[in-house]
Amino acid sequence: MSRLFHDRAFLRRVSLLAAALGTLTIAGCGPTQTALEVEQPEGWADDLALVEAEDLNPDPGIVEIELEARITDLELIPGKKTPVWTYNGSLPGPLIRAKVGDRIIVRFKNSLPQATSIHWHGMRLPNNMDGVPGLTQDPIPAGGEFVYDFVAKDAGTFWYHPHINSAAQVGWGLYGPLVVEDPEDPKVFGDELVLVLSDIALDEEGQFLPEDTGGEFGDLFGREGNVLLVNGKVRPTLKVRQGKQQRWRVINAARARYYTLRLPDHTFVKLGGDNGLAERSQEVARIVLVPGERADFVFTPSNPPGTSTFMQWIPTERGFGSVFNRPRENMLEIVTVDADPVIPEPIPVELRKIERIDVADAKELTLDLTIETQSTARAKEVVMGINGIPYWDSKPIEIRLGETHIWNIVNDTAFAHPFHLHGYFFQVLDDTRIPEWKDTVDVPAESSLRIAVRFDERPGMWMFHCHILDHADSGMMGHLWVADEGETHPPHVELIH
Ligand code: C2O
Ligand code: CU
Repeated sequence: MSRLFHDRAFLRRVSLLAAALGTLTIAGCGPTQTALEVEQPEGWADDLALVEAEDLNPDPGIVEIELEARITDLELIPGKKTPVWTYNGSLPGPLIRAKVGDRIIVRFKNSLPQATSIHWHGMRLPNNMDGVPGLTQDPIPAGGEFVYDFVAKDAGTFWYHPHINSAAQVGWGLYGPLVVEDPEDPKVFGDELVLVLSDIALDEEGQFLPEDTGGEFGDLFGREGNVLLVNGKVRPTLKVRQGKQQRWRVINAARARYYTLRLPDHTFVKLGGDNGLAERSQEVARIVLVPGERADFVFTPSNPPGTSTFMQWIPTERGFGSVFNRPRENMLEIVTVDADPVIPEPIPVELRKIERIDVADAKELTLDLTIETQSTARAKEVVMGINGIPYWDSKPIEIRLGETHIWNIVNDTAFAHPFHLHGYFFQVLDDTRIPEWKDTVDVPAESSLRIAVRFDERPGMWMFHCHILDHADSGMMGHLWVADEGETHPPHVELIH
């Protein structure tokens, strides 16, 4: 029993409930219904509702949607119109929902004034669907179209965004969630809520601050927006019932901001993140999400009926000046409705078996994340790179299909870097972590970590980079070539960014 359920957490919740109920409990009328026996409060997530992509294909195994990138005026701050860069006119872009094994077809049209593309962050898809201009497809020019077509091989919480002029385009609003469900997931996880966290840089009139605000320092630090958004809204409201669990799938879609989430007097039961469930669930006091990363967890509201509280953004240490003198910010208001508390469901500890990557014959290499300041004729310029080489001068890492690698990712810089690999999941080689599949991981300042990757399928040119998009655009990106059998020369590529 103790290995199967969070006994301690469960008992703690029951005692929290008991405390909240006070004399009632003493009188012998504690909660009698369990979380699965009641519904969420009426309109619980209305304020956070995401636009859902409309599936135009009657085949139950195909999700076919239309997506148009276009500028749309939205009211993000009261009474002001912001010309947001959107997918289908909404911020975030529509939620694409599929089941494992579904085919996803996206008919994309670019109605923006500049070239773009869509990268399906975290998806293990064929190389020519990865959405990296110059590497896997041509840029989609203003007025251009492209059809993305791939199979959702894995359950998990994913997202999509452009991969050209990314810091600016993502900063202006181009991102959307993609959830691939596993119909076998236990019901006890609770009702699902998808939360896209982001920020946006606006002046008092709701107009965008210049994309290069802060110059060299902006590049170094990464540009955080001054307005925090949850599903495209400033401080929205969620209604909960005490004890009635919710499964939150949270995505960090910000161009540079790290998120540490905290809810006073609550813990969360983390289920996994980037690429589905972890091996075991784990009770945590805070959820940390670096840019590009996702978290999947159970939230059990424990505040008494008729009260309200805020989910807070807590500054995260990510290098020079990232926490000093920065206040916490309220992100999301959580209102506990006036209804009888219910008994939370116990959450299983064992979630799935994660087979360890066999690294016996692995090739090892070191990727050093580097920052240099160069003086050019025009100005001082920050050039970032991998092993000292910015993306535009880089050569691909050459890999034969079937190879397993260990990458030692070294960060000697004064800033943390969220490392992201396209096309393949990796495992962090660290026995203190609960085993899980990941595509994005934080490499704190002055530290290093090792990841294992199996390049076992889908040959082609793939990217890896820092997901602080200002860093990526400053050169901290690289590419690799997984050569198919018999291939001897890498395909011609153009390293645009
Ligand atoms: Cu969200 Cu190249 O990545
Ligand atoms: Cu970085």
